[in-house]
Amino acid sequence: MCGIVGYTGHRDAYPVVIKGLKRLEYRGYDSAGVALHEKTLRVYKKMGKVADLEEHAVGKDISGKTGIGHTRWATHGEPSDRNAHPHLSSSGKLAMIHNGIIENYAQLKKELTQKGYEFKSDTDTEVLLNFIDEIKQNNSCSLEEAIRVALKRVTGAYVILLLDAENPDTIIAARKGSPLVIGVGKGEHFLGSDASPMLEYTKEVVYVNDYELAIVKPDELILKNLGNEKLTPYVQKLDIELAAIEKGGYDHFMLKEIFEQPRTIYDCLRGRLDASKNKITLSGIEQYAKEICAANRIIMIACGTSWHAGLTAEYIFEECCRINVEVEYASEFRYRNPIINPGDVIIAISQSGETADTLVAIENAKAKGAIILGVVNVVGSSIARMSHAGAYTHAGPEIGVASTKAFTAQLAVLSMIALKIAQLKGTLSAERINTLLNELEAIPEKVESILANTEPIKKIAQQYATARDFLYLGRGTNFPVALEGALKLKEISYIHAEGYPAAEMKHGPIALVDENLPVVFVATKDSYHEKVLSNMQEIRARKGKVISVITEEDETAANLSESVMQVPPCDEMLAPLLTVVPLQLLSYYIGVARGCDVDKPRNLAKSVTVE
Ligand code: F6R
Repeated sequence: MCGIVGYTGHRDAYPVVIKGLKRLEYRGYDSAGVALHEKTLRVYKKMGKVADLEEHAVGKDISGKTGIGHTRWATHGEPSDRNAHPHLSSSGKLAMIHNGIIENYAQLKKELTQKGYEFKSDTDTEVLLNFIDEIKQNNSCSLEEAIRVALKRVTGAYVILLLDAENPDTIIAARKGSPLVIGVGKGEHFLGSDASPMLEYTKEVVYVNDYELAIVKPDELILKNLGNEKLTPYVQKLDIELAAIEKGGYDHFMLKEIFEQPRTIYDCLRGRLDASKNKITLSGIEQYAKEICAANRIIMIACGTSWHAGLTAEYIFEECCRINVEVEYASEFRYRNPIINPGDVIIAISQSGETADTLVAIENAKAKGAIILGVVNVVGSSIARMSHAGAYTHAGPEIGVASTKAFTAQLAVLSMIALKIAQLKGTLSAERINTLLNELEAIPEKVESILANTEPIKKIAQQYATARDFLYLGRGTNFPVALEGALKLKEISYIHAEGYPAAEMKHGPIALVDENLPVVFVATKDSYHEKVLSNMQEIRARKGKVISVITEEDETAANLSESVMQVPPCDEMLAPLLTVVPLQLLSYYIGVARGCDVDKPRNLAKSVTVE
């Protein structure tokens, strides 16, 4: 939530910062701003998107080789010009941007107000900034020292970047609980919430850790802990190409990412799965093979779409590995004093690797002795680093705010983990494992075939784009897919949608069914098929409009449906890797038909770094 960018070096900072903000807009987009430094410290900020900021800055002095920029997802104070970052301190000498939440800001504000401070915004950021400035002035100390002192009083999460009017080419940054990457160039440094703003200039990066402070100048990067001890920056090489973060001819990132899935699933399986040898290689997981096989319980922890991947994996793990699985919302798990028994294994699932609730949940569980395995997309992210071991999903950068390719990559990794454990424990026969490995290997091609025939899905989207509500139903592994379909639709199109286990419909939601309600069944040919067909009949009997995702050539299901979206035949354990794809497309086309900004849906942000 919130994107932050910084630059200091030999280039003009403004274009670098603006371009960087556009790459980070997926993290928040209700207002944006920049602070630039050269002779004078200037701040420009505007409610709306980065493009609105650019318009606002036309004709203004945008010179300067050092700058910071921010794109906001509001927490304290409504989206407005005055709440936009950067904020200027009351002395006018410091400018700051912030990603995160200062939880004790009210107390700090009270103390500052008693000292005569007045505030121009409603933000916690302006409070922290003036708190730092107050310490600096009172103690006549350096900004770096003032930040160190101030942060010892702060509770909450933050990445902060500051410019000081007295130090034109220096950016000071600090982090706790929100991500910060520093790109190292020749005579220049870049700062960002992720690596995308610096990708076209450098591939050498340093991931800043919690409780670290960075003093960044064109030729120098000094990293310290809050105890003022110097640390050696660990420079890593990025393995991402610029094309991966551009639209590449698609109208939206979401559409590009849906269409990338044959490739991303293939990349995820590549080098790990060899059906011809009945072999799965997951080195991270194998380090903990003994503990996983001995576990009485696996707890999957995640939020949103990643939670749906966990819920799907519950079916797969219990069936294949005969281990009890619990799937937890990270936000509930972290606060309820959960029981962690010796030998419990936790699988944390996250695209961004920065989701605050998931991060704290695993931190707590780790402190209680659980083994943490991460299924994470972003390499080097906080959740990946907090985990004992894990397997990256290798889906590449996901920029559309609604998660698509990350979900299928998560399912692919989780399926491989389940099959590996089943192999080690001997809970599935070698023959059954071989069938499933062959099925997994065939998934990219089958997804390709779904994507080759989008016309029927577009037609359904046109037909139902004005519906007020949708119901999504499924059973078994297709139940979490129904939840995911409903989530995708509400995010992208703002249509109210609910997902339910198909049988649960009779216990309440059936009251909603009338001739205006589209009901999407995820109804592929599996062991529940006959039952799902009966559920379809029940909806039809009440004049509901049945739209269904069915297995190709399933005439019985087709005859019970007003409209169908077809997927190739597949073992039911892995069917979600296929059935989710038409639902992603349906949401996308409905969102576009309704004129919604599908890549940046209202009120959302890609990386939820506040709890
Ligand atoms: C939905 C979506 C969110 C995320 C959730 C968890 O399309 O993107 O529900 O899945 O915020 O995010 P990660 O996976 O980054 O932990």
